[in-house]
Amino acid sequence: MGTAMATVSPATSGGTAPGADPTHRTAAKSALAFSPVAADIAEAERIFDRTLAPHKGPFGPLIDHLRHYRGKRLRPALVLLVAKACGKVVPAHHTLAAAVEMIHTATLVHDDVLDEADMRRHVPTFNANWGNKVSILLGDMLFTHAFHLTSTVDVRACQIAGDATNRVCAGELRQMTERGNLELSEADYFAIIDGKTAALTECCGRLGALHAGASEAVAGNLANFGRNLGLAFQIADDLLDLVGTEDAAGKTLGTDLEQQKLTLPVIHCLHRLPPAEAAKLRDAIHAGAEGLGLRVLHALEKTQSVAYAKRKAEEFARAAKAELECLPRSECRTILEAVAEWSIRREK
Ligand code: IPE
Ligand code: IPE
Ligand code: MG
Ligand code: MG
Repeated sequence: MGTAMATVSPATSGGTAPGADPTHRTAAKSALAFSPVAADIAEAERIFDRTLAPHKGPFGPLIDHLRHYRGKRLRPALVLLVAKACGKVVPAHHTLAAAVEMIHTATLVHDDVLDEADMRRHVPTFNANWGNKVSILLGDMLFTHAFHLTSTVDVRACQIAGDATNRVCAGELRQMTERGNLELSEADYFAIIDGKTAALTECCGRLGALHAGASEAVAGNLANFGRNLGLAFQIADDLLDLVGTEDAAGKTLGTDLEQQKLTLPVIHCLHRLPPAEAAKLRDAIHAGAEGLGLRVLHALEKTQSVAYAKRKAEEFARAAKAELECLPRSECRTILEAVAEWSIRREK
């Protein structure tokens, strides 16, 4: 995490010269500010950088690339905003915020290998620059550093982060083993995204609350907040994969269909189309037919499946916000509510 980051917009954009700080541009465009925890995010970023600094000698270009590989910092912001909304930010939160971003980064490095993506966070992916083998090992290294960091906090934090990461990996593994299953159900889809995305945002809510001294009940509410937010966030992300633009998202899109990974709008569409049309669409997806993207978009329009997925995302965002009612009103609680609303209408 090279530069202090206090917005939900990525701090890098295409063509940014190494060393240049584009945060002023993204901050101006950002709908949301993490300003009450900006200094805490900066401290988490210092921990992230310090943890990887010893690798600069042997792996300079990789570690340098990580500095330009900057996302929205949503997960550290969640840990810290939840902590502050629950009463206080303590040094353990900074370590945990760095650790969850490191776990997240590891999953992205591996995910881009799995999805054969060549752009992420507006810059080339590690697999695009260094190939799959280096990317797998870099991802592994990020995971092990993250767990080493959590071990400096306490056993419970380690267990919570470990459970979450187990669920993330199982979610990604399940998505991979279901690849090509064009009969995937909505329930299967929700089980996948509950693991690969919601487990980590749930972990952020729980860790933020517990280390601020919140009761188990309140920590449960904040964990549920994170989980529902993650579900809403991933549905929105899957919509972006179908209907978003790579310029805005800063990452390779369209990989779900290419990889024959069914997401909510497509699952809904296949169930709503007349059976003969659904069978033809399944054949086209299976064959990776020419013009598949456009054909799927027409089918989604016919069955109103984008609107359906948006409604589902809204339900989860609403459920997330409801969990915050256990907290006293505060600036950080208001920002967390805004994050839930933003999660379903973002473009990146
Ligand atoms: C991307 O997460 C992976 C998903 C869970 C969809 P983010 O959109 O939070 O990625 P960065 O960290 O901002 O790049
Ligand atoms: C991202 O999943 C990786 C995890 C959630 C672990 P996706 O493949 O759905 O997301 P993007 O589009 O690459 O960010
Ligand atoms: Mg991907
Ligand atoms: Mg993926």
